[in-house]
Amino acid sequence: VAETSLKGKKVLVTAGPTYESIDPVRFIGNHSTGKMGFDIAEAMADKGAEVILVTGPTHMKNRNTTIKNIKVESAQQMYDVCHQYFDSVDVVVAAAAVADYKPKVVAAQKIKKNESTFTIELEKNPDILASLGERKKQQYLVGFALETENEIEHAKAKIKKKNLDLIVLNSLNDEGAGFGKPTNKVTFIDKDFNIFPQELKSKEAVAEDIVNKIKEHYEI
Ligand code: PMT
Repeated sequence: VAETSLKGKKVLVTAGPTYESIDPVRFIGNHSTGKMGFDIAEAMADKGAEVILVTGPTHMKNRNTTIKNIKVESAQQMYDVCHQYFDSVDVVVAAAAVADYKPKVVAAQKIKKNESTFTIELEKNPDILASLGERKKQQYLVGFALETENEIEHAKAKIKKKNLDLIVLNSLNDEGAGFGKPTNKVTFIDKDFNIFPQELKSKEAVAEDIVNKIKEHYEI
């Protein structure tokens, strides 16, 4: 019997990397496979939530066919879709690894290898989560933090800067955590800076923990 404890809740999940075009052939990307976000979307949908999953380029497939998957490439496109749906959702979980910078100019033609060095000027992408944080009303906003040093401090700063209710911290210093792996090791930090370190688990189990943490909010 399917659990329906999130029935009536509408959830927006982001997953995967973004690709920022350099020219028609090349892009700037990162190592996110989308697995963490897909597992969260499925855990949400399995509990009866209506899920919109916004994904950058990924090979992942939905198991739960009730999930509405909107595919984008760039951070700007992900930004636009997130803002389009934001007013109508109750929860946002941002697991996507969004590029912080994009090429300032996208070359119309394939760039030729004439020079011995080559410089690309980058400009900042919008911060999707921070912009949602500014618009937040009823929404419960969950961010991720992927860190390589001073993890807790950086994650706390992101809670404040992006007006989050909860952050899921993963560190590339932890074996089995982060990109591509079937497992993750996360620490939850809530907006009052309570810290809840978790064991290394499958990403499916981490997704389940995230869903349970969100459910706690609605049960209070
Ligand atoms: O996809 P997998 O291979 O399974 O890997 C999972 C993961 C490592 C990508 C995932 O667990 C994870 O950590 N995702 C967030 C990666 C990240 O970009 O973290 P960050 O600390 O740079 O960003 C903080 C938060 O702001 C994130 O929720 C991010 O989605 C969001 N953000 C960041 C930049 C930006 N321009 N806009 C954003 O909304």
